[in-house]
Amino acid sequence: MTARLDPTALLPTLADIEAAAAVVYRDFPPTPQYRWGLLSERLGTDCWLKHENHTPVGAFKIRGGLTYFDQLAQRGALPREVVSATRGNHGQSMGWAARRHGVACTIVVPHGNSVEKNAAMRALGVTLIEHGEDFQEAREHAMRLAAERGAHMVPSFHPDLLRGVATYWWEFLRAVPQLDVVYVPIGQGSGACSAIAAKHALQHPVRVVGVVSRHATTYADSIAAGRVVESPVSTQLADGMACRVADADALAVLAPHLDHVVQVSDDEVAAAMHALFTDTHNVAEGAGAAPLAAALQERAALRGQQVGLALTGGNVDAAVFAHTLRAG
Ligand SMILES: Cc1ncc(COP(=O)(O)O)c(C=O)c1O
Repeated sequence: MTARLDPTALLPTLADIEAAAAVVYRDFPPTPQYRWGLLSERLGTDCWLKHENHTPVGAFKIRGGLTYFDQLAQRGALPREVVSATRGNHGQSMGWAARRHGVACTIVVPHGNSVEKNAAMRALGVTLIEHGEDFQEAREHAMRLAAERGAHMVPSFHPDLLRGVATYWWEFLRAVPQLDVVYVPIGQGSGACSAIAAKHALQHPVRVVGVVSRHATTYADSIAAGRVVESPVSTQLADGMACRVADADALAVLAPHLDHVVQVSDDEVAAAMHALFTDTHNVAEGAGAAPLAAALQERAALRGQQVGLALTGGNVDAAVFAHTLRAG
């Protein structure tokens, strides 16, 4: 990552983000952000949630899909078919945006993927293929498929995805400008890079804390090592964060700009899912609850601060959620 001169050149500017918001708002309005009383009591300080669980696919990813396809359309480069890999929310985003532009969409998921996320993708018109044991294997298969078919491979991390994703952080920082610190989950890094983009675009001093699963530590390990380090994935609950190999471009943005990285265990994530339900009656999937799990770890240091948490998605299978609530 040291070979890259200016990694922030990948990030959308304020003008890019404003233009992206206009694209996103053709499909849905800004999501709400609320200061929840019980959650603030639990954290011992003011706690705001950004409700990305309230987009039309129940996760922030849709914003990136809309701008990715819009950029293709603006270049006159809409393909006949797109192929991508996902654990679910990126695939829903692709399905939504592909349908909007009349493009065929094939998505590869690993075996054992969320049943309900798979159903939601199919309902958006996606042709779903199950391949491999984890996201990385699904991704490699998707790349082979795209090459064989002459289809357009959509990566999980790309500047045209960041433009759209950055709109949720831009909304959040403008709506709650007093935020001191925000927590963002990291899978392939588009959400965290977008938080940094919005912070820079708005010249906001907020500290951005990255959150990884303790059972999927490639970004924490790579930041510590100063190069991409592959790390095993064994999380059962935080599928949105289940990445084995960090993206080099995302790493180059995150390493110098994240305040720090927190690792959360599946038990902590389960407790945070339970707490979010009890305190706000919103359903969070594992990755969506990870920011609260991280903030609770750091509770003592957060006293007196305005804390923002990205509730990035609510797409958890009913059986998994029922188990999580019962266990809590
Ligand atoms: C709900 C949710 N939160 C967080 C993430 C991680 O996002 P990123 O891959 O942009 O780092 C994902 C990724 O799919 C997700 O679905």
